[in-house]
This record gives sequence, structure tokens and C-alpha cells, in this order.
Amino acid sequence: MTTPQHKIGSGFGARSTADDVLRGIDLSGKLAIVTGGYSGLGLETTRALARAGARVVVPARRPETAQDAVGGIDGVEVDELDLADLESVQRFAERFLATGRSAEIVIANAGIMACPETRVGPGWEAQFATNHLGHYALVNRLWPAIARGQGRVVSVSSGGHRHSGIRWDDVQFERGYDKWLAYGQAKTANILFAVRLDALGRDAGVRAFSLHPGAILTPLQRHLPREEMVAAGWIDEAGNALDPSFKTPEQGAATQVWAATSPQLAGMGGVYCEDCDIAELIADEQPGPGVRPYAVDPEEAARLWQLSADLTGVNAFAPLR
Ligand SMILES: NC(=O)c1ccc[n+]([C@@H]2O[C@H](COP(=O)([O-])OP(=O)(O)OC[C@H]3O[C@@H](n4cnc5c(N)ncnc54)[C@H](OP(=O)(O)O)[C@@H]3O)[C@@H](O)[C@H]2O)c1
Repeated sequence: MTTPQHKIGSGFGARSTADDVLRGIDLSGKLAIVTGGYSGLGLETTRALARAGARVVVPARRPETAQDAVGGIDGVEVDELDLADLESVQRFAERFLATGRSAEIVIANAGIMACPETRVGPGWEAQFATNHLGHYALVNRLWPAIARGQGRVVSVSSGGHRHSGIRWDDVQFERGYDKWLAYGQAKTANILFAVRLDALGRDAGVRAFSLHPGAILTPLQRHLPREEMVAAGWIDEAGNALDPSFKTPEQGAATQVWAATSPQLAGMGGVYCEDCDIAELIADEQPGPGVRPYAVDPEEAARLWQLSADLTGVNAFAPLR
């Protein structure tokens, strides 16, 4: 059944941490895959899931850096994955499938933001390709190993989805690049991906969620000139956080950990969450928080799924011919 895009009154909020939402939850015997689980929000997610007893696989673009970050955490293993390279995605998925294990949790957390125009693969815009297409191909390739009856796939989006819907007439920005529109499109794609995956996967007992983690100073901002962050009021000239609404990484990781593990979401799926609750739908011109209608539209989601299948050549749900 389609879950309404409305708050459920979880009792958690913007200041809840990943450990808060995991209190009383035992993840022993469960396996989580967390892309980018060695930096920023991903690292806090890995730490919290491991503390709750989960085994955590961290596929990393820079395995040595990842090993340095998570090597000391019990129950965490690092593998190699570059989301911008579909062959690397395939190799990682094949290695995981060959172990015969299944994953109760997949958190599509890795991402890049507002980078200068960059082309990957056959000339794809890098934010759409990395943040969306790489995760699309990864989850579809991992599909046989996602635990039936209790699997959750969590797609880490952003309030930045409000910058842009899917630009159907120029998805790859061939007619002029804008770093924020490109981030917005990619983050809308992360939400639509969860909408469609939930519709396709729910009969198998695999549910999908998307979310905005909040605003958190992490290496994600590496492509932003300092002047831009000062002008936005995020930091002062010395790089100190100014905006009181910013979260710590432990708070920033909470919503994705909640979406991946909370019994409060049993039987639900396909919804966009923020501050450890389901978010409200907001009109196209309304400021945030909340999710824009174009980002949770089932027809847009089905159309994006088909485009992604055509581009990547991967679709775990293709009808048998
Ligand atoms: N921080 C915020 O305020 C904020 C707000 C809204 C949404 N988000 C979302 O939250 C997620 C995590 O962000 P964060 O703030 O934790 O950023 P972060 O610290 O920069 O972490 C991002 C991770 O993604 C990995 N990654 C980037 N490109 C990759 C690729 N081609 N293949 C595999 N891994 C790749 C990075 O690996 P390397 O370190 O090796 O590059 C890093 O581990 C992102 O999806 C972001 O859009 C963050």
C-alpha cells in the first residue's frame, strides 16, 4: 500500500542522533551496505549501525582512506566501488553476490555536490551519474541479495532537490551547466528512485525510503568556494559554523539510520523523510522543509526508472521476454 507523505509523530527530531534512534534496537545478525560509509554522515552511520551489532560493508572509492577511517570499528569491512564507473559497480556487486550473503539494509549515502562541470562514463553529467545512476545500477545488481521480507533501501537525498525536478529535455546538461540545478536534479532522482523501487520491491518485502539529513558541515562542501559559504551565512571567514540550524554529523546521520531500522516504519515505504520523521508535501513555490510534489510523483518515478535502465543497461525488474 502507498504510504501517505505525512508526519507520523515519531517522537524524534532535528537534534536526535543516530544512537538515539537506535536505542533498544539490536542489529546483531544483520548486514548493512553503506556507500560512502567512511566520511561525514556515512561514517557516523557506519559507526552507529556497528555499535548496534550490525555487520557493515563500506564500498569505497578510496579503499585505503576508508580503511583508515573505519579499520578500528568492530564488524566493518571495506570493499572497492566507484559509483561513477558502472564496471566498478558491477564488480563490487558480483563480489558481494559471490559471498552468498544477503543485506537487510542498503544505504545509498555517497554523493558529490555542486562540483564544476564534470563528465563521466559516456559523457554523463557527474552529479546525476554518481549520485543517481551509480546507486540505481548498484541496487539493481544487488537486488538478488537484498533480504526478502525485511530489506530496506535508503536513498540519501537532500532539501536541495527543491532546486530542480528532472530536466527531461536536457538531463545531461548538454545545453549549459549549472552546478546547483545539477545537484537538485540528482537529489530529486534519489527521491524518485525510492518511490519506484518501493513500488517494485514491496511484494518481495523490500521497502525503500529517501530523506534529507539536514545541513551539516562535512567534506561534501569541498567544491564550494569559501566566499560562497560565507555569503550564504553558513560559516564565518575563519570557517566556523554560523548557522544555528546546522546539525552535527551524529544528528545528520540520524534520519537515514531511522529510515533503515525503525520499527515505526514497518509496513511503510516510498516516502521522503527528514528530522527522523516522514516529511510533509509542500507546494512547488513554497520554501522548505518538506518535499516537492514532482519528487514523489509515481509517473515521474517510473519514467526515471526507465531512463536509468536504458542508460545503464541494468534493470532487476525487467519483464522476462
Ligand atoms: N552534509 C550536508 O549538509 C548534506 C545535506 C543534504 C544532503 N546530504 C547528502 O548526504 C550524503 C552524504 O554526504 P556527506 O555530507 O557525508 O558528504 P561527504 O563527507 O563528502 O561523504 C560523501 C561520500 O561519498 C563518497 N563518494 C563520492 N563520490 C563517489 C564515487 N564516485 N564513488 C563512490 N563513493 C563516492 C565520498 O568518497 P571520497 O571521500 O572518496 O570522495 C564520501 O565517502 C550525500 O548524498 C549528500 O548529498 C548532505
